[in-house]
Amino acid sequence: MKSILTRRSIRRFTAQPVSDEIIQELLHAAMSAPSAGNEQPWEFVVITDRKILDEIPKVHPYAQMCREAPAAILVCSDVTRESHQGFWVQDCSAATENILIAANDKGLGAVWVGVYPREDRVEGLRKLVGLPAYIIPFALIPVGYPAETKPPSGRFDPSRVHENKW
Ligand SMILES: Cc1cc2nc3c(=O)[nH]c(=O)nc-3n(C[C@H](O)[C@H](O)[C@H](O)COP(=O)(O)O)c2cc1C
Repeated sequence: MKSILTRRSIRRFTAQPVSDEIIQELLHAAMSAPSAGNEQPWEFVVITDRKILDEIPKVHPYAQMCREAPAAILVCSDVTRESHQGFWVQDCSAATENILIAANDKGLGAVWVGVYPREDRVEGLRKLVGLPAYIIPFALIPVGYPAETKPPSGRFDPSRVHENKW
């Protein structure tokens, strides 16, 4: 609960690299997500190449933080693995959120940068990391040690909860 309730979007990072061991833990968290009929359509591209990270803001207008982030995980979907049509977005969302929560638990900062369904971002990232046509880039998660702190969002609103009927 602590890691969920204190998670915020972190867009400023120190220069400290994230170890491969921690990245592997984040990927374990991602692939522990539920998926429709257990289809697990996800694929992940771990980006640590400074040149590629610096190129990302050129294809995604709201990804400027990649210039500071030591790493980013691109959550993708392999559409050939989709056995329950239309559910891959929900599967990849669950995997993405698991990464964010795990990153916070590890003392890292991260942010969900939306890619799909914006065609220009999808195609820009496809080109940048060389994705084949059957792989759709879904969300990018820049990750690193935080250079900013934010209070818990405190967004809970009991008026959004309905009991038994609306
Ligand atoms: C689907 C989705 C797309 C998002 N895209 C971006 C983005 O492109 N750039 C960015 O800086 N933040 C992006 N965010 C982060 C949101 O701005 C952020 O989650 C929201 O403002 C709430 O703040 P919090 O995460 O700190 O609680 C995205 C979040 C989601 C769920």
